[in-house]
Amino acid sequence: MCEAKRVGILGLGAYLPEKVLTNKELERMVDTTDEWITTRTGIKERRIARKDEATSDMAAEAGRRALKAAGLNIEDIDLIIVATITPDMFFPATACLVQDKLGAKRVPAFDVSVACSGFIYGLAIAEQFIRSGTYKHALVIAAEKLSAITDWSDRATCVLFGDGAGAAVLGPVDKGGILSAYLGANGKQGDLIKLPAGGSRIPATKKTIEDRLHFIKMNGSELFRHAVKIMADAALEVTKPLNLKAEDISLVIPHQANIRILNAVAKRMGLTEDKIYLNIERYGNMSAASSAVALVEAVQEGRIKKGDKILLDAFGGGLTWGALVIEW
Ligand code: UT7
Repeated sequence: MCEAKRVGILGLGAYLPEKVLTNKELERMVDTTDEWITTRTGIKERRIARKDEATSDMAAEAGRRALKAAGLNIEDIDLIIVATITPDMFFPATACLVQDKLGAKRVPAFDVSVACSGFIYGLAIAEQFIRSGTYKHALVIAAEKLSAITDWSDRATCVLFGDGAGAAVLGPVDKGGILSAYLGANGKQGDLIKLPAGGSRIPATKKTIEDRLHFIKMNGSELFRHAVKIMADAALEVTKPLNLKAEDISLVIPHQANIRILNAVAKRMGLTEDKIYLNIERYGNMSAASSAVALVEAVQEGRIKKGDKILLDAFGGGLTWGALVIEW
């Protein structure tokens, strides 16, 4: 076993479903307005997967694109992690379905279920396996079909979410890579956002369906309050061991839940708003896939240069949170 000193991102890929659902269209579905959604959240439109398109389909396509960008073949991958709260089914794990779809070797494949923090948890887990020398290359995918668990009659939630997938190939690098990781959770606040039924606590019945318990239930304003503090604290915790100040961070790639949350986080961190990467306008909140797709697009748009130190920062249901500093 040979230890890899540094672990970095070798390639990235994203997949967004073609169908765009605009705020204007939502105005015709529930009692809302483009103006309310835009000013309260920053969202203008989101992507919606086809009926026949499941999370593993989007995940596999993002994975293929990340492999291509890394210049690697699927045979090079030793570990597959999929971060999702919208698996194709309870089991098998979506990661196993992706392993099959991509024609990978019989490598370990498992899901991580920590909602919006999933991409960061996945990267941090994979980094440990590679750094220890257990595996050389890992494929970490964050993919969500939130449209499948969204209550399209609830204006408080249905305007927020979207579908999509982002993926990263991790492996040993000579310079830079993941410099620091910070993960956390607080199960006491699990009630703030959840999907109540369908598990072992409240198995599916005709009544649970009638009561609409198979959709996301959320206390938005409480979550908002926690989100700002949690994301700012996570940024502080992950940069502390590196003695980094806010100005040493070139770009923050945050979970995209609400533009007002992100502006408040920037303020708390002492950063100007232009240092926070945003694509919420186009995709809404895609849970784990949000920070993954944001990272892919920030790189594609040339917002990240060699040597830059970037900060990934997310919070979500659980509650869970995670932050990573990566030197590009
Ligand atoms: O991904 C991690 C988990 N999710 C989050 O982090 C979400 C965090 N929370 C938020 O982003 C915000 O709390 C929301 C965008 C969900 C809501 O914004 P808000 O400013 O906290 O609004 P609110 O829930 O306090 O509602 C204000 C008003 C209410 O009306 P009344 O009671 O003041 O008459 C709502 O009924 O806005 C109403 N409202 C809407 N109006 C038009 C709620 N949803 C809508 C809507 N269109 N879609």
